[in-house]
Amino acid sequence: MESNIYTTFDKIKDRQAKEIYLKQRAKVIWLTGLSGSGKTTLASLLEKRLFELNYFCQILDGDNVRSGINKNLRFTNEDRMENIRRIAEVSKLFMNCGIILICAFISPTKKMREMAKEIIGEDNFLEIFVDTPLEICEQRDPKGLYKKARSGEIPNFTGISAPFEVPDNPFIVAENSNPDINETVRKILLKIVPEIRFDPTADL
Ligand code: ADX
Repeated sequence: MESNIYTTFDKIKDRQAKEIYLKQRAKVIWLTGLSGSGKTTLASLLEKRLFELNYFCQILDGDNVRSGINKNLRFTNEDRMENIRRIAEVSKLFMNCGIILICAFISPTKKMREMAKEIIGEDNFLEIFVDTPLEICEQRDPKGLYKKARSGEIPNFTGISAPFEVPDNPFIVAENSNPDINETVRKILLKIVPEIRFDPTADL
């Protein structure tokens, strides 16, 4: 089937031209962590702060993506792999438009995150482990899902009946049990901004 596909990526104005236009370097900020760990909250605070600093971002988030482009996928290991594969490919399209991605997905296994990194490219992939202990996520239980998972109503629930593998060497560990989330955001920004800052002299 693929043999009849003729890509035109080489005819599209290149990423660098778009990055110059947007005065930023496109990267994928990848938040991984348990359900209820605070990925979505961190993603929206990061987007807000980066926007104030004149950076142009797009958030991709588990619940949103799964109600649209990935609505046919469930939570088996295979479907989660496909979820992450599509998200990584979509991220790459945005990135080639010069846009900074903020992706918030449980992405529970090393294999899934390795695949995302491979699709997106190692230099573009900034992994943030949102490190909130399971007990705290379960106490928070903002969507009531842990309760349902414990009662067996939801199968394959990450942290309860499906695995979460802690990343070995993330770019940032965000300890998100800290009540001052703005401090967590500040720490992330201090590491992220040098990666996305546009340097007009870089190619001189
Ligand atoms: S991932 O594992 O494929 O990366 P994703 O981030 O897209 O997951 O979606 C996670 C969200 O789906 C959770 O925040 C939660 O609201 C919901 N959800 C529903 N069922 C499950 C489940 N079995 N395990 C984890 N999350 C689930």
